Amino acid sequence: TDWIREFAATSRLSDVQVRELADTAGFGETFTDHMVTARWSADDGWHDPRVLPRRPMTVDPAMVGLHYGQVVFEGLKVYRTPEGGAAGFRLAEHCRRLARSASRFAIPEFPEDLFLESITELVRADSRWLPSICGRALYLRPTLLGTETTLALRPSATYSYLLLAFPTGSFFGSVAESVSVWATHRYSRAAPGGTGAAKCAGNYAASFLAQQEARERGCHQVLWLDAVERQWIEEMGGMNVFWVCADGSLVTPPLTGTVLEGVTRDSIMVLARRRGISVREKRVGLADFLADVTAGRITEAFACGTAAAITPIRKVASDIGSCDLGGGLAGPITHLLRSDLTAIHHGTSGRPERWMTTL
Ligand code: COI
Repeated sequence: TDWIREFAATSRLSDVQVRELADTAGFGETFTDHMVTARWSADDGWHDPRVLPRRPMTVDPAMVGLHYGQVVFEGLKVYRTPEGGAAGFRLAEHCRRLARSASRFAIPEFPEDLFLESITELVRADSRWLPSICGRALYLRPTLLGTETTLALRPSATYSYLLLAFPTGSFFGSVAESVSVWATHRYSRAAPGGTGAAKCAGNYAASFLAQQEARERGCHQVLWLDAVERQWIEEMGGMNVFWVCADGSLVTPPLTGTVLEGVTRDSIMVLARRRGISVREKRVGLADFLADVTAGRITEAFACGTAAAITPIRKVASDIGSCDLGGGLAGPITHLLRSDLTAIHHGTSGRPERWMTTL
């Protein structure tokens, strides 16, 4: 591919300032110096890939993506290797999920080779932003959006690809040790046949009020129940959920089309099975979950996602009851899986990992 590379003539921050920010900045707060863009049209397909200094864009006020929400995105992480290089986690998996999200929104698929090249280009341009501390990474946000200027209610005739990056640690910032969740009976996230499995911008905007309800109840995160019967546990505000039974087995809600197909969710199932831990994808009702925790049949629960990594859940609250788990500390299975995943991310597992792509 013919890349146009336009590097910042003078960067806004010194190397020392960048190193400090890379190791301290919170989720989505401080962006790197560059971004990648590409464009799609029916005649040329995906074309014109560029690495540019990160700067505001000019869009027409009647852009399709703004009005009708034809926007999907990904979230993936790039870690520093022990040798000082950079490696991305399950990049092909993220690209495939972006393609599935795009397809649900009638957006043309973004090619895998261009996806991988764009990540390599941006990480090279912004290598000084790669955090050096274990548990921190460069978070990359590939986004596809309908850019045509029209308010006609049909798919856009033109699209843009954007790739942004920022350094981050735990999504939950200073409360990273564990989180409490509020299971809402008031709002729903996704209905059968809807967009729940797609990583679309609108799913996140639609979670804000439920997230506010959770905060008003003193919880960090919303826990979504299914939209039809309002009883089956599905996922959290921006991450999947697992729990551990007293026999040491793992349970997570199944991918029914209303749950986001988490890359971390899938990785945890693989890692658990490698450890000989049995994993079931099973519908569990909130009432049964609360009863099982109270009776000691469920001993640990955790949130997982690219942003959240693996974060223990210490409390589940709702209108029908609440329960406490683990006293705020990661239980033994949560701890084990988190150590396995972290070792792979940072290249310290002692074995070659096909999940990591050196950039
Ligand atoms: C991620 O985990 O990468 C996400 O995209 C969810 C985030 C927006 C909370």
